[in-house]
Amino acid sequence: SLAGGEAHAAGALPQAGPHRAPAPVPPAFSTAMPVPPVLRPLTSTGNVDFYELTIRKATARILPGIATEVLTYDGHFPGPVIHARSGRRVLVRHRNGLDMPVSVHLHGASVPPSSDGNPMDVFGPGTSRTYVYTNRQPHASLWFHDHSHHMEAEHVYRGLSGTYLLTDALEQRLPLPKGRYDVPITIRDARFDEHGQLAYTMADRNRTTILANGAPTPSFEVAARKYRLRLLNGSNLRLFALNLSDGTPLIQIASDGGLLERPVAVPVLTLSPGERADVVVDFSRHPVGTRLVLTNSGPGRPEQVGKVLRFDVVRTADDPSRVPEVLRTLPPASALPAAAVTRHIELSMDEDGRPDPRGFINGQLYDPDRVDTTVAFGSSEIWNVTNTNKRVAHNFHLHLVQFRVLERGGRPAGPTEAGLKDTVRVMPGETVRLHVTFDGFRGEYVYHCHMLDHSAMGMMATFRVR
Ligand code: C2O
Ligand code: CU
Repeated sequence: SLAGGEAHAAGALPQAGPHRAPAPVPPAFSTAMPVPPVLRPLTSTGNVDFYELTIRKATARILPGIATEVLTYDGHFPGPVIHARSGRRVLVRHRNGLDMPVSVHLHGASVPPSSDGNPMDVFGPGTSRTYVYTNRQPHASLWFHDHSHHMEAEHVYRGLSGTYLLTDALEQRLPLPKGRYDVPITIRDARFDEHGQLAYTMADRNRTTILANGAPTPSFEVAARKYRLRLLNGSNLRLFALNLSDGTPLIQIASDGGLLERPVAVPVLTLSPGERADVVVDFSRHPVGTRLVLTNSGPGRPEQVGKVLRFDVVRTADDPSRVPEVLRTLPPASALPAAAVTRHIELSMDEDGRPDPRGFINGQLYDPDRVDTTVAFGSSEIWNVTNTNKRVAHNFHLHLVQFRVLERGGRPAGPTEAGLKDTVRVMPGETVRLHVTFDGFRGEYVYHCHMLDHSAMGMMATFRVR
């Protein structure tokens, strides 16, 4: 599914006939889900791994017989995986091989402002930029993606997204599935035009092809044993509500900021754009030959978006892995540092059907020259985040920090949201109550709706840690 090399000129792409319908999406489960490649450091010295990659156009084989132009980190679609370890530095030098400015944000990471990929902190065509990741935080399934001002949504949609798996001693000691049985899976939607090219228009409701690791509703061959699946919703707008077709619950072990305290059996796993959930699925409960479908009951027509991926149990395997009853300990909500300040954040966008809807935070469009919120370094605050729209779902992401979700709609957050989070869904009319501690670094960062079409419409703001 991955084709390196330079993009074809538009004229060299396969041409559709005059009456041809939109590019044929292959039948469900007829393609194989790729596992994204792991990047190797160029050099590893002392306590630093140094990577170098080029941001460039490439072509990917997503639909049968069609070369689709995509934007990539080093030619990879889906984006590559970087493995990192807490306390060990990662440096990534990105060369911009596109004809427009880019910036790279490591989502969920505690990094200095100079390496955060602020929307205005872009680097231009032909130039390079080195990002320094200190990894001074516990294990977590992170991801990196483009964040250039107003262009983040289209760039991520076209492929500028990769996986960054940060581990630490605590996580390594646990007998969870590892190695080839620990699989990152980015799920997202897309719309293809009649030439099989990715079509992007803001707030498009017709992105009804579901891709798992870049393949359209693929199948994935598994052994009859436990797997850790690191799920990321890489969509710009789509909410997923996932479950397995045999009705067995997914066992969620981690959320955005790493392991939960205890595994949670989740009948339907909700993931909004940018959120991650690591789940363990035990395929040994099924005989070889079984096929299980990961289905989606989120918004959309089930016949279009109801199937994500099929697991085909094709062989037996030893399984020394286990899911312990206790994965980690986190302070209970009652023991979090006292909050000095309570803030109210309102997310909204135009709902009147105008062609260019705008997105707002507390009634204002994003202005990179304005600091919207100033917080004291080391302090803790309560942020009540409300979606004031009637119909449009949003979510909320803060750079720099991992927070705790205290309440959703006035009730204590459920067990799947009880761990460390950096992105939280906020449904129409709903309020979530967050506890945030602003430590790590001082400087300016952004917070925004992670439905990236919305952030590109203005639903973003700046906070300064002083
Ligand atoms: Cu993944 Cu500012 O976001
Ligand atoms: Cu939004």
